[in-house]
Amino acid sequence: MVTVSVLKADVGSYPGHVKVHESLLGEVDSVLAESDFLTDYRVAHCGDDVDLVMTHDLGPDAEEVHGLAWDAFTSAADVAGDLGLYGAGQDLLSDAFSGNVKGLGPGSAEMEFEERPAEPVTVFLCDKTEPAAFNLPLYRMFADPFNTSGLVLDPSLHDGFVFEVQDVKEGDVAEIEAPEELYDLLALIGVTSKYHVKSIRKPDGSPAAAVSTDKLNLVAGEYVGKDDPVAVVRNQSGFPAVGEATEAFSFPHLVSGWMRGSHHGPLMPVSQEQSTPSRFDGPPRVVGLGFQLKDGKLVGSHDLFDDPAFDYTRERAMEAAEYMRRHGPFQPNLVGAEDLEYTTLPAVLERLEKRFEGEKLRN
Ligand code: F6R
Ligand code: MG
Ligand code: MG
Repeated sequence: MVTVSVLKADVGSYPGHVKVHESLLGEVDSVLAESDFLTDYRVAHCGDDVDLVMTHDLGPDAEEVHGLAWDAFTSAADVAGDLGLYGAGQDLLSDAFSGNVKGLGPGSAEMEFEERPAEPVTVFLCDKTEPAAFNLPLYRMFADPFNTSGLVLDPSLHDGFVFEVQDVKEGDVAEIEAPEELYDLLALIGVTSKYHVKSIRKPDGSPAAAVSTDKLNLVAGEYVGKDDPVAVVRNQSGFPAVGEATEAFSFPHLVSGWMRGSHHGPLMPVSQEQSTPSRFDGPPRVVGLGFQLKDGKLVGSHDLFDDPAFDYTRERAMEAAEYMRRHGPFQPNLVGAEDLEYTTLPAVLERLEKRFEGEKLRN
């Protein structure tokens, strides 16, 4: 069995929240290089987030792997501090590691499976958004035949997939089968402020996809930045083809998390090089990296959205971004009241509370 673990954190960036500094990438690389239990790894980045793609045989949530990532992020945070980067160490919410990064700030998406003779895996890394940003593309990838033609054409996909859906606030999880319970699935995951897709598997139990689903602001109890999620997806021969996985991002749907975690904007698929959100701290980005696995070793990555075929999507994204921005501080550029609870707005509203005192209007 091989485990693919993608762990990520924002431990400082420049200028402001735009870009990870090269020296942070070098620092995490040198920490991971020392490990004697990783089969392989790659260091990636999206916007102000450092993403570690690691393979090993220790299974998901392994203390060694999470501890190693924690050490890498901590060392990088020190480098960020020395360089005077913005938000140095911001996602490291604790002084001490306690067995797992969950609840401590960094995000993790992990999957353990029997490696097939040829095993393509894609990894999607986001910045300036939140885990539910994956709801729509994962639905399209694994349940929508207008996106994934294999659901209709290939007998090995025809039985569909099981979605594990998590209630963001309560943490409870429900398993919903597609296509049998398609409307129930959509009834849940369309409500992105409340539910997100946590993982997907085939009906025989084989893991198909995993998403990092920690809500950083809920963990910390106050606004400390966003969750900037990552996802891992298996591809081909019974799973969506690589092109069906990327096709799911060809529509730049609106997600929450742009500027101060308080705005909706289109999710724009970009190359790793272009994952530098500089317009109004956005718009939100997604990077796609493709690999083959061989005995747990990573072949690649290939930068999937570094392709003129996505220029059209990027143009549409900027049209949507422009349209949304013209609303300024009004909804729906501004996110809904429920999501604003976890931003800096409540502190402003608190000051205004006494202005609402006085006689209630009777009718
Ligand atoms: C951070 C982000 C940014 C910040 C904004 C304000 O990932 O999305 O939009 O929220 O730049 O940052 P502060 O409050 O640090 O000045
Ligand atoms: Mg940042
Ligand atoms: Mg970020």
